[in-house]
Amino acid sequence: MNDIKEFEEEKLKKISLINKKIPQHLAVIMDGNGRWAQSRGLSRNVGHEQGVKTLKKLIKQCIHLQLKNLTVFAFSSENWSRPSNEVSFLMSLFKKAIKKELNELISNNVKLKIIGNKTALSKQLQNLIHEAEFSTQNNFSLNLNIGINYGGKWDIINGVKKLLKNRPDLINSPDLISEKDFSGLLSLSELPEPDLLIRTGGERRLSNFLLWKLAYTELFFTDTLWPDFNSIDLVRSIDYFSSRKRKFGGDIDIKLSKKNISKKENLNREKITVSYGYKEDV
Ligand code: FPP
Repeated sequence: MNDIKEFEEEKLKKISLINKKIPQHLAVIMDGNGRWAQSRGLSRNVGHEQGVKTLKKLIKQCIHLQLKNLTVFAFSSENWSRPSNEVSFLMSLFKKAIKKELNELISNNVKLKIIGNKTALSKQLQNLIHEAEFSTQNNFSLNLNIGINYGGKWDIINGVKKLLKNRPDLINSPDLISEKDFSGLLSLSELPEPDLLIRTGGERRLSNFLLWKLAYTELFFTDTLWPDFNSIDLVRSIDYFSSRKRKFGGDIDIKLSKKNISKKENLNREKITVSYGYKEDV
């Protein structure tokens, strides 16, 4: 048994990110907090607290890898149907985390954006979000987008509402509606579409996350529960992504280009590979 484990670890160490293509935009469904806690005899809320710590580590790893856009799903439009004590805990956790981490986001040059229907959130949380978005708006090392009361279907309907408000004339000329103009009305229209989606926790579905923008995204599913997600899982997912031939519905294989990766970028990747080889998190 130990031999197999060692062999697996040896194999893992050999995955390096040198010369690998890094996604421009990584989307993550952070699933498995509850199971992580319950399997340790702890309350689900402890799992959510641990989940925030894992997210902090991932943010640092993304900065390290110069991965420019990270979008994570913290609370879906459907999550209101969870037990009310879990919902209130999550809402306080979001408030606490934004308050506590704001200075660190600023010092790490991270631009924070919350996506979703914010009108249903408490005024206190809305104010905190506004303050955090305002004070990080000019940052540029990482765009960190967090879905809170977000749903892909809500996003599309919201886009339709904006379209009809901005261009009432289109009601009589629907043929003038273009895909490009419509996508400009959705959340994160200013960013490239996610090129890699990671879902932890063993499920293999999108659960109403970024439906429109995930149309051609590469999907990476792992059984790792979100609190356990570490740099080894990240390296594995990027290695998988880097090996994909992306066709975008065309018939020509567009193998991800490995050109133009600067020495400096590779140096950063070397660091994360080394620390991953020693099984430490960056
Ligand atoms: C899914 O696990 C996780 C959530 C619903 C919450 C995710 C939220 C965080 C990690 C915190 C994000 C932090 C900020 C600052 C916004 P689950 O409870 O569905 O797990 P289960 O499938 O094991 O039950």
